[in-house]
Amino acid sequence: MTPDSADNGRATTYPVALRLAGRRVVVAGGGRIAARRVERLLAAGARVVLIAPRLAPALAERAAAGSIEWHQRGAEDADVRDAALCFAATDDVDVNTRIAAAARARGIPVQRADDAEASDFLVPALIERGPLQVSVSSDASAPSLTRRLRARLETLVPRAYGDLAALAGEFRGQVKTRVPRAERAEFWNAVFDGPIAEQVFAGRIEAARRELQAALAEAEPAKRATRGEVYLVGSGPGDPDLLTFRALRLMQRADVVLYDSLLPASILELVSPDAERIHVGKRASKHTLPQDQINALMVELAQAGRRVLRLKGGDPFVFGRGGEEIAELADAGIPFQIVPGITAANGCAAYAGIPLTHRDYAQSVTFVTGHLKQGELNLSWAELAQRGQTVVFFMGRRNLDTICARLIEHGLPADWPAAMVIDGTTARQRLIAATLSDLPARVAAERSTGAALLIVGEVVRLHERLGWFHPTAEY
Ligand SMILES: C[S@@+](CC[C@H](N)C(=O)[O-])C[C@H]1O[C@@H](n2cnc3c(N)ncnc32)[C@H](O)[C@@H]1O
Repeated sequence: MTPDSADNGRATTYPVALRLAGRRVVVAGGGRIAARRVERLLAAGARVVLIAPRLAPALAERAAAGSIEWHQRGAEDADVRDAALCFAATDDVDVNTRIAAAARARGIPVQRADDAEASDFLVPALIERGPLQVSVSSDASAPSLTRRLRARLETLVPRAYGDLAALAGEFRGQVKTRVPRAERAEFWNAVFDGPIAEQVFAGRIEAARRELQAALAEAEPAKRATRGEVYLVGSGPGDPDLLTFRALRLMQRADVVLYDSLLPASILELVSPDAERIHVGKRASKHTLPQDQINALMVELAQAGRRVLRLKGGDPFVFGRGGEEIAELADAGIPFQIVPGITAANGCAAYAGIPLTHRDYAQSVTFVTGHLKQGELNLSWAELAQRGQTVVFFMGRRNLDTICARLIEHGLPADWPAAMVIDGTTARQRLIAATLSDLPARVAAERSTGAALLIVGEVVRLHERLGWFHPTAEY
């Protein structure tokens, strides 16, 4: 950092992106840093002249393939002639100093791998998505912080942004000629915030291209922007950290959210603050809104041009009625997308240290519902009572006595391992690991009334060795 930047805390460099296609760029040095510079220069289409007595393997490959011009010797002052840019990246300070001086004497910007302060420019850390580039630089104050930030951004910027930028690039010229200047920003906002971008994020590039073409033809961007759509999103078992990136993005984008009673506040908080919140209930036997009304409401909101987020616990397609909800939308011709979530079975198993399958104990895993249908628990008990498998009961708390009794009647020993995971993956998680005969009484003694998942099988015992998540929160 220079004294100036130290004074006011601001960077003193000026960020630019250089066009180097076909231009001569000189790189002195043949090591790892030179190799990184060369890769980026080649991606930018530069004509790379490399001067080094020896080459790192990646550079040797480039030289052998004829992608770069390699001079096998030490760098000399005259090498920098006619260069658009110069990199002094040898491991010899004196050579770097000499080459940097030679470049500067000819007015050629130079970067020294060994001395950021003595360089004319810095090379930022880069996140690339197609034509989109996000560069991060700290004015050479904290390169390792820059790298950390880059790693975080790498996970935050979806890959599909590259496709979106490429698609925008494809249409840029047409938009310029067909959409009046005053309406252009609004046109692009509608593209990036609306269904066209969503098509790209869902991997439907061709459909996005067609829609963009149509939007352009109509030149009615406002109309396009108000077309409604529905996002059926699985929010996982409770821990907000288990949300997917796509879930989070759509949660930020929606303008109305429909959510159930069991959805944790910590997840609901991540929905855009501007979105209208509609609680549709659904605690066992106390449905706030009947299922058909929830389905109808989604259709109605989407037809009114709203971006509707239907937020479900766990995964929408695992005992989540996702299929029923989406069928109605499909029939009404409303665009929708489905985002999988981590189901309670996977989340609870992982946070309880109970592998659902294991080569020694369980060759298969079955997910079943312990919920009564017309007052009956009509399950294939003989199959569920087989050894060598794990059986996971969703919604099994109310009928726990019956479930355990039936499994024993159909052949499992009374001391067969069974566990209840309550409020799994959250700070209130409770694991009650017991046997079929004593689990009901142990669970009945619990104060918590949270969501509960029953896991039956020998894998339950493994929690003693593999348990790792021991939250301390009190009820
Ligand atoms: C209507 S089902 C929905 C399942 C959800 N779609 C999924 O994939 O996890 C609700 C049941 O899931 C289970 N469940 C959901 N979240 C849970 C959690 N955090 N801990 C324990 N069980 C959970 C309970 O058995 C609860 O009764």
